[in-house]
Amino acid sequence: MAYIHIENAGKTFVENKREFTALENVNLDIEKGEFICLLGPSGCGKSTLLNAIAGFDLVNKGSIEIEGKKVSAPNTKNVTIFQNYGLLPWRTVQKNVELGIENSRLSRKERKDKAYEYLKLVKLEKFAKSFPRQLSGGMKQRVAIARALCVDPDIIFMDEPFGALDAITRMKLQDDILDICRNQKKTIIFVTHDIEEAVYLADRIVVMTPNPGKIKGVIKVPLHHYRDRTSGDFLQVRDKIFELFNMKADDNIEYSI
Ligand SMILES: Nc1ncnc2c1ncn2[C@@H]1O[C@H](COP(=O)(O)OP(=O)(O)O)[C@@H](O)[C@H]1O
Ligand SMILES: [Mg+2]
Repeated sequence: MAYIHIENAGKTFVENKREFTALENVNLDIEKGEFICLLGPSGCGKSTLLNAIAGFDLVNKGSIEIEGKKVSAPNTKNVTIFQNYGLLPWRTVQKNVELGIENSRLSRKERKDKAYEYLKLVKLEKFAKSFPRQLSGGMKQRVAIARALCVDPDIIFMDEPFGALDAITRMKLQDDILDICRNQKKTIIFVTHDIEEAVYLADRIVVMTPNPGKIKGVIKVPLHHYRDRTSGDFLQVRDKIFELFNMKADDNIEYSI
């Protein structure tokens, strides 16, 4: 069975006695080490699906399993990175990165060294003693990435992590995250509403549509890890996604271009 197995998953919220189906009949298998983008317009259930896989807010139909075990709560082996960085303003950059390993068996010095190593990885070692308020948005998000990697997670969940950044900083961080994550061979589930971002990053793109939130199709991106946004191949994948968003059919489609 796949590393992450999602079968007929559904999520209904009840508000003011009204039911709202945020996710319906979601079927998806994810292999270890894959970089998966959940792509779709606002409100199509991307965060709902991500939170369900991460165990924050469970599905109420079907099932989600990781390594054969039903997801029933968040697992400390996984980490989540959000759009708003989630740094503690009263802690230095170094101390923010140490956050996730404070309850580990490592000694104080080992913790410090390890955090520093990851700060180097995101090229922020010079800012170890700075406070978050002294950093730009892109730098803050790199601290959040260092903190996430420092716990050596199995799965990294990212919910529109670059959504608050300007276009140029975002492109730089996309390169950083690709470099880092390919080297570390993590499984990544990355939510975005940005088609180019998905084509640039993903091994496979899960295209979702709203009302109710569904998977419209899954697109395997047949490009090299280092991608050229202007190449014909890149544009071909992008066009395929536009096509999927414009299609009426309800079927699940597994595309390979
Ligand atoms: N806790 C909740 N209670 C009620 N409705 C919710 C809740 N969370 C999400 N929704 C609804 O579910 C739909 C999908 O939301 P979400 O997963 O956040 O979409 P996305 O991340 O794709 O923008 C939205 O219409 C949203 O209003
Ligand atoms: Mg969302």
